[in-house]
Amino acid sequence: MPSFRDSNLIKSANFIDGEWVSGTRTLAVLNPANSETIATVADGTRQDAERAVEAAHRSFASWKKVTAKERGAILRRWHDLILENAEDLGALMTWEQGKPLAEAIGEINYGASFIEFYAEEGKRVYGDTIPTISPERRLQTYKQPVGVVGAITPWNFPTAMITRKAAPALAAGCTIVIKPDPGTPLSALALCELAQRAGIPTGVLNVVAGSDSQGIGEVLTQHSKVGKFTFTGSTAVGKLLMRQCASSVKKVSLELGGNAPFIVFDDADLDEAVTHCVATKFRNCGQTCVCTNRIYVQEAIAENFTARLREAIATMKVADGFEDGAVIGPMINEQAVSKMERLLADATAKGAQVLLGGSRHELGGLFFQPTLMDSVSDDMELVSSEIFGPIAAVQSFSSEGEVISKANATDSGLAAYFFSRDVGRVMRVAEALEYGIVCSNSGVFSTDVAPFGGWKQSGIGSEGGKEGIVDFFETKFHSMGGIDR
Ligand code: SIN
Repeated sequence: MPSFRDSNLIKSANFIDGEWVSGTRTLAVLNPANSETIATVADGTRQDAERAVEAAHRSFASWKKVTAKERGAILRRWHDLILENAEDLGALMTWEQGKPLAEAIGEINYGASFIEFYAEEGKRVYGDTIPTISPERRLQTYKQPVGVVGAITPWNFPTAMITRKAAPALAAGCTIVIKPDPGTPLSALALCELAQRAGIPTGVLNVVAGSDSQGIGEVLTQHSKVGKFTFTGSTAVGKLLMRQCASSVKKVSLELGGNAPFIVFDDADLDEAVTHCVATKFRNCGQTCVCTNRIYVQEAIAENFTARLREAIATMKVADGFEDGAVIGPMINEQAVSKMERLLADATAKGAQVLLGGSRHELGGLFFQPTLMDSVSDDMELVSSEIFGPIAAVQSFSSEGEVISKANATDSGLAAYFFSRDVGRVMRVAEALEYGIVCSNSGVFSTDVAPFGGWKQSGIGSEGGKEGIVDFFETKFHSMGGIDR
């Protein structure tokens, strides 16, 4: 067991209406590095979710009346407490999710940054005064919080995907009920402990972890007292949840799967391109929605780039996330590992070459070798679907037009990366890529201050930046008559 400075951050009950609620059943939390049970937490039920929604609805009546400035001050205290406890929270995340400790602490800082940003941004949401159409009328719009928010968050970012939703919701005056992934509830519950210490009032923030994804999910998507639903996860599940939201016509935000192209033109700075390709392909063991999925390299430099990429990948240390220098931790579960084997089998049967890795790692369990493949083609499953694991798949291309049509030939539209030193090309390609996030000459873009959201089937709405708070408000038009009588 890792050592924790503050063991009160490790919780075994759900957080509903300001209370720690244990249940009759428990949920085992496993360490993906060795598959051992590290904790058991209350296995929340549909009834717990209903209770949480009722509590959030009651608390909404008072929270919406707290000034944005005061809400901001409370959020700011939550942010500070998260940073003060970053090492413990990072260790908790590595323990239940597997990502290397430095990366986990990085996520704690990233997660906290959304709280800081929205503590400020909540004070800057304005309605309008509209030039009137008649002397006896005045026309105004108000922004009012949408009410109770239902949120379902994933295991790959157990902290940041919660704060990216909860911070704007709370800053806007909404209350929230969160269902974290049942595999990673400890990070979510630790956030509640710190929220309570920060003075977030009873019922404003609730977490119901549970294995009954269907039951809890139905409450969050169908309850008449939930005003908005927000989800990060796979496109398939997002579609299902969106359908469920239709029955009560909820506002919906979805952050779904990607299929990110990483394009290297022959005028690119190759050292930079290789470094960033590795960073964006292998972040979180390849398990992020914005991880590079398809690597396209222009013919003249393909051999050189691939050789350099191979060298860089070979230096990455695969290890338990607590080990010094670990860069690649375990995958999340057996299903994820078997998917890598299936994708590899499909690709090699269709002519792809494995240049490095290509199988489970000698550490066993859920560890998989960082893998590099070339001679990849469009008919392979690892091109048409999201890999979500440590396999880098390289194809070559001849012209700008060809690679843009290949890059856009997908139903996903979350993130795209490209490298070129030609400023005209940078503008042309950035404009032509059909993606919500386009990142040129870098593989790093995630930040609290800018919008993160997908086009096409990668989602609806944006999180982060000024855009990320918009959907937590309703707009009210007030047409005021009887002024100039
Ligand atoms: C995600 O993959 O869902 C989030 C990644 C990020 O925020 O950078």
